[in-house]
Amino acid sequence: MRNRMIAGNWKMNKTYTEGVELAEGLASELQDGTGSVDVVVCPPAVDLKGVAEVIEQKKAPFALGAQNVYWEESGAYTGETAPDMLTNVGATYCIIGHSERRGYFGETDEDINRKAKALMKHGIVPISCCGESLEVREAGKHVEFVVDQIKKDTEGLEITDPSKYVIAYEPIWAIGTGKTATADDAQEVCGAIRKTLAEIFGQEIADGIRVLYGGSAKPNNVAGFLEKEDVDGALVGGASLKADSFAAMVKAAM
Ligand code: 13P
Repeated sequence: MRNRMIAGNWKMNKTYTEGVELAEGLASELQDGTGSVDVVVCPPAVDLKGVAEVIEQKKAPFALGAQNVYWEESGAYTGETAPDMLTNVGATYCIIGHSERRGYFGETDEDINRKAKALMKHGIVPISCCGESLEVREAGKHVEFVVDQIKKDTEGLEITDPSKYVIAYEPIWAIGTGKTATADDAQEVCGAIRKTLAEIFGQEIADGIRVLYGGSAKPNNVAGFLEKEDVDGALVGGASLKADSFAAMVKAAM
């Protein structure tokens, strides 16, 4: 019912030249295809065009995603990137609401909701991130916190094709720390996310939306997460920066 998804978030890593090299490496690792697994790579904005060219030339079995977008169509917004600009270089996905953007750049749920609407208007699939801090987790309020984020981030969205909206649950305390949530921790929150989506959009739509786990996901632990009913894939940071480790995670999902 839901194809699994493995998405790589390169964050602020890889120059244009290095990005092209990594994409070429990945194209060769995955030359036999990815089965029913949807694979997405999300390089820095200046690398997008180069990676798009690799995908085209090598007929690589992965899609291109951006890491951020602005919701306006064009104009005097120095430093920002419009949805149309992403489409034009071949991006079909875009991460929004990553905890690093929320934390370092002050992004709010309202901003994330506007970004989702702008992307969907242009046919770009949002990979919308949510997740709690260690403090919230230790207070036992993680489910409540994430459910609240989901309600705000999806407010007023019209989802008719559930394959065109993706959620990534990334507990902040597990990002880049080597400290993973357990598969049961991930299921607890991903299950609550799906229940919330069902309340908002109906069960059928909720059953079609991919909910990914992210936070120190690696080749050696990804299978455990994927066994869980409501975990449909992974959003991978560090382990997506090497072609062999990222490809190993794709293969574990196949
Ligand atoms: P790590 O896999 O490096 O923990 O990063 C996770 C993440 O933030 C992906 O968006």
